[in-house]
Amino acid sequence: MTISIHSTDRVFVLTGAGISAESGLPTFRASDGLWEGYRIEDVCTPEAWERDPASVWAFYSARRAAAQKAKPNPAHCALAKLESQLPERFFLCTQNVDDLHERAGSVHLVHMHGELAKSRCEYECGAPPVEDRAVYASLAEVGRCGCGGRLRPHIVFFGEVPLEMDRIQRELAKATWMLVVGTSGSVYPAAHFVHWARHAGARTVYVGPERPLNAAAFTHVVDGKAGEVLPELFQVED
Ligand code: APR
Repeated sequence: MTISIHSTDRVFVLTGAGISAESGLPTFRASDGLWEGYRIEDVCTPEAWERDPASVWAFYSARRAAAQKAKPNPAHCALAKLESQLPERFFLCTQNVDDLHERAGSVHLVHMHGELAKSRCEYECGAPPVEDRAVYASLAEVGRCGCGGRLRPHIVFFGEVPLEMDRIQRELAKATWMLVVGTSGSVYPAAHFVHWARHAGARTVYVGPERPLNAAAFTHVVDGKAGEVLPELFQVED
């Protein structure tokens, strides 16, 4: 399949863990995925943070270490190239917390589930997230905010509200093409975005080696790995 993008088109892209799989980062729900080795409720909920912040930091420190070693793959690069060809008409929303899109050159993007390379105060004290790539060996090494709160990963835990939802909804409403890559369609609200885009009149394409749970909502489903499909997927016309 080829997506022909015309001068009046606006492209909204949603990515998930599958786009970073070819960079060596595990997805969540595969048989060897992250949620096979860990329980969500032990490492990725506000209650886990309250009960056992050391385990939460151990999980995210290990993920920081893995993400820092990974490199962008041809799928990240294809999206960065497309953005450079469509200034102001391209928007990327990722569920991923790694920074492989930025390192490939993407500029207009939001991390709706947070960012591994940042930390923030555990309280809503108003302090913004800070850059933090440290891989902590113990909780004693983790710093504190000026207000006294402990720094927590800048990650949206299950049960918390995703980031930048107003901006995401505005961009979805303007899209004429929506491309979704490497996400199983099992986590909301991201799994709803395809419905919102279709409601706004966009054509919707999914790329990945397995059908996502919300496959029926797409106008096209392309079976394949992101790094193999994306570099050949777009044709930008003047
Ligand atoms: N190219 C494209 N897709 C791939 C590839 C690949 N090379 N390899 C695997 N996939 C697909 C899988 O088929 C699967 O559908 O990526 C998807 C990964 O699904 P999940 O593991 O469920 O990850 P994701 O959908 O991103 O999870 C959403 O859940 O745990 C939370 O907050 C976490 O952001 C995450 C959210």
